[in-house]
Amino acid sequence: MIREGAISFNAEGAFYNPRMVLNRDVGVAVTRVLKITQYLDALAASGVRGLRIAKETDVEKVILNDVSRRACSLIEENIKLNSLSNCEICCSNANVLMHQRRFEAVDLDPFGSPAPFLAAASRSAGSYLFITATDTAPLCGAHLKSGIRKYQAVPVKTDYHREMGARILLGTVARELARIDKAVYPLLAHVTDHYVRLYLEVKKGARLADKTLKMMGYLEHCHECRSWRTIPGMECRSQGSCDLCGRKTVTAGPLWLGPIQDRDLIGRAIDELEDVKGRSDRALRLLQSCGEEIDEPMYYDHHRLCKDLKTTPGRIDDLIEDLRAMGWEASRTHFSGVGVKTNAPLGSIQEILSGAELNDIKRH
Ligand SMILES: C[S@@+](CC[C@H](N)C(=O)[O-])C[C@H]1O[C@@H](n2cnc3c(N)ncnc32)[C@H](O)[C@@H]1O
Ligand SMILES: [Zn+2]
Repeated sequence: MIREGAISFNAEGAFYNPRMVLNRDVGVAVTRVLKITQYLDALAASGVRGLRIAKETDVEKVILNDVSRRACSLIEENIKLNSLSNCEICCSNANVLMHQRRFEAVDLDPFGSPAPFLAAASRSAGSYLFITATDTAPLCGAHLKSGIRKYQAVPVKTDYHREMGARILLGTVARELARIDKAVYPLLAHVTDHYVRLYLEVKKGARLADKTLKMMGYLEHCHECRSWRTIPGMECRSQGSCDLCGRKTVTAGPLWLGPIQDRDLIGRAIDELEDVKGRSDRALRLLQSCGEEIDEPMYYDHHRLCKDLKTTPGRIDDLIEDLRAMGWEASRTHFSGVGVKTNAPLGSIQEILSGAELNDIKRH
């Protein structure tokens, strides 16, 4: 018998990953904030995710689906074990189910890539679409061909590869929804351990979809000096050379360039998370960090920039403070402990870092 959150369950014969507790804790907190009434756990395995939603939120109905008969009988057992009366079991191919029925919220938690389920899930999701992807190598550019096949976009492996993965996936979902006149509004996006997790609001309307597609674009990156520039729009007008050092650039995309964190929702999810039974401090820190990120795509690796400049890295918070003092926006990021998000050009950051030792002396 396993205990997680407020439920006890058996997972024998089905997939269960205890490392995903943080993912499910955050899912419970976000679902509570959104006051969802109907929730599909499309790939449920033991049912742990859907059962926790059924027990720990005010959802009226949770539909737990898995194609495996063994998983479905396990889910049935687990529902009884927790005396839950707000659950329905389906033993279908998730794609068939999602083409047949609409659900207020759809949650995809597949083995690896969610790509095979995105078309059906986009149709099925009335208001919310939650997605986990564990295929970070294709998403982040480490397995290039597979990434291009699955997401119809070109990822580029960079220092900010974790955010690249989140934005490539988000861009694919935005395009999938737009095909059926639906618009996407990101509520929360995080990359933890080896998975990407997205919480998205979905609205119907061709005009809204047109508007959200304006958040799509490309990104031109220079491997030589680590500088990059964004290219908004679905038309790729890359320069081919770096603004800073003049070397040849590579282009990633199409990907999502718009905001990915809804600070108001995250603030409320933090309050809800405080009450989640057994929740980890790590989950809390994650949400706090996501809520403090500025709305700028990608980030610089503080240590890597210092290494290039052959200087010793000082405190990352000092760099952020200096950038803000110069009038730029800057923040840390949950994507990396040594990451800095800013709208400052790389040249300005380098100037600060080159004078870092001087600044350090002034400060102490
Ligand atoms: C990663 S597990 C789900 C884990 C679960 N959500 C949790 O939190 O523990 C993926 C599940 O999807 C099921 N599955 C795979 N392909 C499917 C399909 N086409 N339709 C429905 N279920 C499917 C598998 O049987 C497996 O139980
Ligand atoms: Zn360059």
